[in-house]
Amino acid sequence: MRPRVIINAAMSVDGKIALADGHGVRISNEEDLRRVHELRAEIDAILVGIGTVLKDDPKLTVKAEYATGKNPLRVVLDSGGRTPPDAKVLDASSPTLIVTSADCDRTFKHAEVLRCGKDDVDLRALLDHLQARGIGSVLVEGGSTVIWAFLREGLADEVRVFVGSVVLGGASAPTLAGGEGAGSIDEAARLRLDRVERLGDGVLLVYTVVR
Ligand SMILES: NC(=O)c1ccc[n+]([C@@H]2O[C@H](COP(=O)([O-])OP(=O)(O)OC[C@H]3O[C@@H](n4cnc5c(N)ncnc54)[C@H](OP(=O)(O)O)[C@@H]3O)[C@@H](O)[C@H]2O)c1
Repeated sequence: MRPRVIINAAMSVDGKIALADGHGVRISNEEDLRRVHELRAEIDAILVGIGTVLKDDPKLTVKAEYATGKNPLRVVLDSGGRTPPDAKVLDASSPTLIVTSADCDRTFKHAEVLRCGKDDVDLRALLDHLQARGIGSVLVEGGSTVIWAFLREGLADEVRVFVGSVVLGGASAPTLAGGEGAGSIDEAARLRLDRVERLGDGVLLVYTVVR
């Protein structure tokens, strides 16, 4: 048994999740922010890659203006231990787990460290570890590389994408899923569309990952 993994992201109509220089931009509208924070309040852990921490410095907590509830465990995939000491995920406002590769010896004030994986973090071993400590659900909030990794390894159960009514353009802007991508259509992640919901001026798409 592994925790239930939900991928959640906001993208533009042209599939971008950030600007061409990699910096985050607000794609969600107020209705979507409320949805995301309500989801965070229900989930046991929220996970991002170090790329997202370095570009956006997210706090990854439940904002009181949108939802009430317990902050989830914050999990950062950071093989080389590059999380800056002043990153918001290290602000002690809620528990944080930094996951590095086995040979990284960095430690962090206000965060627990799990060393797991040779080069990149071993996602299966991480999910097994989370399950063993009672985490039943994980919200993967990005970025592009991490979303592709969960889909490629068949470790995601659900994908929820908010499509904001905006076109960002930029050939180098990160899209919903990056990494190396599929080598052929057989390697594509297959999804089943479960729900389409209008959220203000945008739309929420909810998919089950087909295995
Ligand atoms: N619109 C949205 O909803 C949204 C949400 C979040 C982020 N974003 C955007 O996404 C962008 C960041 O995405 P990104 O692709 O550059 O970075 P990312 O996916 O946040 O982080 C990728 C990094 O995570 C580390 N990692 C460790 N183990 C891994 C594994 N098993 N699989 C994959 N990655 C692993 C790797 O760095 P190491 O080798 O150093 O460990 C990897 O380069 C930013 O532009 C941000 O604004 C958008």
